[in-house]
Amino acid sequence: MLKIIVLIGAPGAGKGTQARLLESRLGIPQISTGDMFREMKDADTPLAREVRGILASGMLVPDELTFEMVKARTARGDCKGTFVLDGFPRTAVQARMLESLSAQQGKPIEAILVDVPAEILERRLTGRRSCPECGEIYNIHFKAPELAGFCDLHPETELFQRADDTAEKVRVRLETYEENTKPLLEYYEGSGRLQRIDGTREPEEIYKEMESLVGSSVVVG
Ligand code: AP5
Repeated sequence: MLKIIVLIGAPGAGKGTQARLLESRLGIPQISTGDMFREMKDADTPLAREVRGILASGMLVPDELTFEMVKARTARGDCKGTFVLDGFPRTAVQARMLESLSAQQGKPIEAILVDVPAEILERRLTGRRSCPECGEIYNIHFKAPELAGFCDLHPETELFQRADDTAEKVRVRLETYEENTKPLLEYYEGSGRLQRIDGTREPEEIYKEMESLVGSSVVVG
């Protein structure tokens, strides 16, 4: 069955970690709006400058712009089948926009909440380090690389810390999530399209449950 899988969760809940596993093991494309915005980092255009400023503040990029990007990305060949949206929708307006895309593509939406309490999130975010080469995600507290500061898969490459992973920015991002994105849980639950996963366990344990929710009937493009 073709579908659009929406991963919802607070910043640091582990959406990216799980979406990357779904992509590498089941071949389901991961569409991460955060990654797409970060890819604009080297562009010197007014739009890229505006997006960089918004990301650094911990606030949200405007709905229209975000949706245009999602529409363009999901029109590509690899999204003919099921795909995973990691970080979209994040507002009620974006959720309505996604309904139109779902109707247009004839794919139902299945939302999965990766549920992690706020007190764990700050440590996950401030401890996160990523590889600029392959995007592999580490954590100095929970998933340290073999050689501190360097990627296991690209041993020459130094890991980086995201500009919005400082304690101050993390607070803003968590507030933004509470205010704008959390209400979507009720929206998807009310229409019987929300499943919940306990995101406090080991990533592999979470993935097993994730796979059993999405894996059995999935068709990739
Ligand atoms: P985005 O990149 O989507 O950030 P986010 O939602 O804040 O989520 P994160 O990437 O921080 O966390 P995650 O849940 O993916 O966790 P991860 O797997 O990395 O967005 C960034 C910005 O872009 C936004 O602030 C906004 O400005 C803009 N933006 C994006 N989408 C937008 C939209 N739709 N509309 C408007 N603006 C938008 O894990 C985190 C850490 O925890 C890692 O170190 C990892 O190793 C560790 N970890 C993961 N799982 C576990 C586990 N089970 N146990 C222990 N540690 C774990």
